[in-house]
Amino acid sequence: MTVKVLFVCLGNICRSPLAEAAFRAEAERIGLDAAADSAGTGDWHRGQPPDRRAIAAARRNGVDISGLRARQVTRGDFDRFDQIVALDEENLADLERLRPEGSQARLSLLLDHVAGREGQAVADPYYGGDSHFDVTWNDVTEGARGLARALAGADA
Ligand code: 4NP
Repeated sequence: MTVKVLFVCLGNICRSPLAEAAFRAEAERIGLDAAADSAGTGDWHRGQPPDRRAIAAARRNGVDISGLRARQVTRGDFDRFDQIVALDEENLADLERLRPEGSQARLSLLLDHVAGREGQAVADPYYGGDSHFDVTWNDVTEGARGLARALAGADA
């Protein structure tokens, strides 16, 4: 069965598109049957491609995210996805407020899936420079690896 995973940050133009891409690559690498998407808690960037610095950071790591488009998370996402993964604690708090009662979707922070980094945020690189986006890529890759491995283990 395909496990459906949604990554959520604030704008859906920096961190969550990178997490979506890193997770997709990792799932493919380990043979996990998964579908990934991303969304923002805010709607300012709806319909826009990822930030050009995020596109560049992904490209430096061999991944093209230029075709992604931002959207806002909805209450319906809690029915459509098995796992909803927040990039920082503010995103997580917003998702907990939005979550419909009785929703079965599992909520977590991305770095909860990395031993020793539980509870940590993937820092917002929006006001930073290119090097911040490389840190973001490394963080989301680490989180995506841990999450994919855990899901593969749960599936086996
Ligand atoms: P993201 O970064 O949440 O990682 O996509 C941001 C993008 C846009 C804004 C803030 C953070 N903004 O304020 O417009």
